[in-house]
Amino acid sequence: MNTFKEINPQDISESPFTLIGKDWMLVTAGTEKKFNTMTASWGGVGIMWNKPVVFTFIRPQRYTYEFIENEEFFTLSFFTEDYRSALKLCGAKSGRDVDKVAQTGLTPYFDENAPYFKEAKLVLVCRKMYNQALKEDCIFDPTIKASYNDDGSDYHKMYVSEIVKALVRE
Ligand SMILES: Cc1cc2nc3c(=O)[nH]c(=O)nc-3n(C[C@H](O)[C@H](O)[C@H](O)COP(=O)(O)O)c2cc1C
Repeated sequence: MNTFKEINPQDISESPFTLIGKDWMLVTAGTEKKFNTMTASWGGVGIMWNKPVVFTFIRPQRYTYEFIENEEFFTLSFFTEDYRSALKLCGAKSGRDVDKVAQTGLTPYFDENAPYFKEAKLVLVCRKMYNQALKEDCIFDPTIKASYNDDGSDYHKMYVSEIVKALVRE
């Protein structure tokens, strides 16, 4: 049995600046047969189309990108500091080359819609609503362009996704 309790996403008390920017998160997508996870520290939470949403930004080169593209749902898992080394590994290595579950010792759980991790303190189950690759034409601040390849092949894709479930570990 899993040990998570569902809460209203609007009752998440920790700052998203801390949760996303400082603590980082694992973005995980796929099926029980095949899934992948990666660390992310860019993104946000808010309200769009009157729903609680997350904004995530994934480069197309990530293996995780393929899973997010193929699925309607993905999850964001947040951890305590104890799991920093696991998040470092998932942000440094690709699931194309290593088995991240075996290397981190994290335990995958499967919601009816998407995989997440037993060790997480907070999990957001997300349903994709609006997906769009960042575009050169839309860049206003020139320093942003300088952070990407000249050919634009590594522009992040933005996913605006409804938070369909927020789970906290009991
Ligand atoms: C702290 C940290 C934050 C990261 N944030 C992002 C992010 O927001 N978006 C992204 O595309 N990659 C981000 N990355 C890079 C991916 O986690 C990294 O490339 C990872 O190895 C991809 O794994 P995969 O190929 O198995 O998907 C971050 C890495 C670290 C260490």
